[in-house]
Amino acid sequence: MIRRFDELPSTNSYARQIAEKGAEEGTVVRADIQTHGRGRRDRVWYSERGGVWFSMILRPDMKAKDGFFLTMVSSTAVVETLDIYGIGSRVKWPNDVFVDGKKICGVLSEFETLDGKITYAVVGIGLNVNNELPEYLGDIGTTMKQLSDGEFDKNEVFEKLLDKFTENYNLLLRSRETIREKWTRYSDMIDKMVKVNTEDEEFIGAVVDIDLEGRLVLQSGEEKKTISTGDLEYL
Ligand code: BTN
Repeated sequence: MIRRFDELPSTNSYARQIAEKGAEEGTVVRADIQTHGRGRRDRVWYSERGGVWFSMILRPDMKAKDGFFLTMVSSTAVVETLDIYGIGSRVKWPNDVFVDGKKICGVLSEFETLDGKITYAVVGIGLNVNNELPEYLGDIGTTMKQLSDGEFDKNEVFEKLLDKFTENYNLLLRSRETIREKWTRYSDMIDKMVKVNTEDEEFIGAVVDIDLEGRLVLQSGEEKKTISTGDLEYL
């Protein structure tokens, strides 16, 4: 079921509320404008009219530690959707999609867990389509419109993205390794030198792997570091 709104504070917040009340697997909440769109680490997600902002409620039979696979499915679906429109992109750990060094999409996955298992997940996707970005995001963000000649049919973009999500989600339920392999290929990160800022530390090293829990494995000199989450910059 798709629940469409003109305006909501945040589709993730709304989806969490209805998931608490039992909304079923596959419920989608979409809004044309979010007044309090949220990003990772309590950041604001700028969500004017013109973008595709939505959240999905999922109830997979999955351990909490495997939750990152849902983020992987989402960014994989975004890369494949942009490809349909001739826009080449790549995923950036942990939850972004970039085109030519600028962010076009962010994913916010939130989980409710019990005894180490996911009760429900809310996976939110924000894709910049025809929306204008504020000046302060000009150098670091981009939109599908900026990358082409004109506007896109955002309902069509949404439908294609949902189809791609469903395709990859079903693939995940059959073979995690295939999703991990695709995502790693789309990330093009292996062997690249990166800098990662976590809440309180900075790491520099070459990317060796993304492990089965979605953690970044870095080779820093003689040492291997495994990092759960942070902000990554290519060097
Ligand atoms: C990030 O880049 O840190 C994640 C951004 C996620 C934005 C999407 S838009 C739809 C959904 N609702 C929200 O409030 N956030 C996500």
